[in-house]
Amino acid sequence: MLDKTKYGWWKSAVFYQIYPKSFQDSDGDGLGDIPGIISRLDYLEKLGVDGIWLSPVLDSPQVDNGYDISDYRAIWPPYGAMRDMERLISEAKKRGISIIMDLVLNHTSDRHPWFREALKGRDNPYHDYYVWREGEPGTPPNDMRACFGGSAWEYVPELGQYYFHQYAVQQPDLNWDNPRVRRELYDMIRFWVNKGVEGFRLDVIDSIAKEPDKKITARGPKLHEYVRELSANAFIEPGIVTVGEAWSADTGEAKKWSAPDGSELSMVFQFEHICLDQSFEKWDAVPLPLPKLKRCFERWQRELHGEGWNSLFLENHDLPRVVSRWGDDTAFRVESAKCLAAMLYGMEGTPYIYQGEEIGMTNVPLGLSDYEDVETVNMIAERRARGYPDGEILASARARSRDNARTPMQWDASENAGFTTGRPWFAVNENYRGINVRSALADPDSVFYFYQKLIALRKKHPVFRDGEFTLLEPEDEALFVYTRCTDAERLLVICNMSGDARKYTVPAGFENAEILIGNYKGVSDVLRPWEARMMYEGGTR
Ligand code: NOJ
Repeated sequence: MLDKTKYGWWKSAVFYQIYPKSFQDSDGDGLGDIPGIISRLDYLEKLGVDGIWLSPVLDSPQVDNGYDISDYRAIWPPYGAMRDMERLISEAKKRGISIIMDLVLNHTSDRHPWFREALKGRDNPYHDYYVWREGEPGTPPNDMRACFGGSAWEYVPELGQYYFHQYAVQQPDLNWDNPRVRRELYDMIRFWVNKGVEGFRLDVIDSIAKEPDKKITARGPKLHEYVRELSANAFIEPGIVTVGEAWSADTGEAKKWSAPDGSELSMVFQFEHICLDQSFEKWDAVPLPLPKLKRCFERWQRELHGEGWNSLFLENHDLPRVVSRWGDDTAFRVESAKCLAAMLYGMEGTPYIYQGEEIGMTNVPLGLSDYEDVETVNMIAERRARGYPDGEILASARARSRDNARTPMQWDASENAGFTTGRPWFAVNENYRGINVRSALADPDSVFYFYQKLIALRKKHPVFRDGEFTLLEPEDEALFVYTRCTDAERLLVICNMSGDARKYTVPAGFENAEILIGNYKGVSDVLRPWEARMMYEGGTR
């Protein structure tokens, strides 16, 4: 068992992300809830994860599924009550699982009492909790765009002012230059630490130090100063694990974020690898250039080694399902899901599994009117207004919409995939009769057991944590091969990231290595479609 009071325990950990609305309903209202999560803790213990990153469960009008918080100290009633949250924390802890809460510190909901007060007048003490600029109706302060479409400025006629929002209109940005705002947020975080929460994921943390007059959102000049202050005041215990969402991070920035002195955060989610298969916007998909992906991972692995810490992920609630995106969700769904996992889990960093990834859940073929996600709905309206054909818009949404990851968790082959006895809030993927937890648990060759084994291997062999990364075959269009080495141990990871068989000769020194894990039976000189193998020499056998 990991000693979670010590700084750095998370270097040997694996985390699991839960998107509460779609995980498990317990009361038949069609929405996932906290008692539902509690009922699945044994499943997560069996998988072997050390913590749950819980997407927001706090009170919210749900314009952005909880990333629009109206009360930082109350649970959204359909998810349960505070005592359910307390029970989740203690039941998880009993199983060695930490709760990592999602902190949305960049913005609140427009229903938050601070914003309701702020609207009352320029003299109201809460007015300066948000970012306001003077302006005439119809002429915003500048042309900045919100991430979910439209202007980043919203006019309030009663005040004769605009407020700034980087996301939906209903998500006004907080003013981090106001020390009272920062203090309120630190107090709130301590409230949750005192309830037993052991870590935090920090939503769009690189955007807090915005300077809209200079059109700066991410990486504002005061960003790291604010993060260090946040860390010193709120993340006091050395065992608290923190992961910041930082779309703007390059390796240099990530080294600051995850500096080994613990002055900022434990690690960040960076998205360089995630953006390699798009042309203009995320909606404009292009095929994944494998050599670029390999070079990208190589750079992150080498530059952060000893100087920072990586997070490792291919999915989350904002991304499509990776088996549909970079794997093959038809003929080789199981093989490619395992291959992608092996490709990632041999690397240095802390892995995050997104709910359903461990059973190889796929994208969902919805129609244009079925989408729920505010970003997708806005994109559909914008692209229609710009004259894009519906067929093209639908292809983008099916490939890229966040809703691909938000269909209910597929637990079994019964109606609604065992997610709810009521009417699910969102479409269940039709393929649930074949792809579900119950059948995965009954099949020793399932994707689930592959993940379970990878997690166990990462705990058993120190080389997964400490080994130095070397990329082999950098230009190969199909193979992703690398080693991780320490003085005592050597690991070789071989992945055929294609549906074609490929000849491959194991490099010198690994001819007699033990096969730790593989996704095909037997060994041959030819790598079969999506075949993955991890080979090991030395250390603890
Ligand atoms: C990032 C979150 O992951 C996403 O779901 C959300 O919409 C935005 N931040 C705004 O909070």
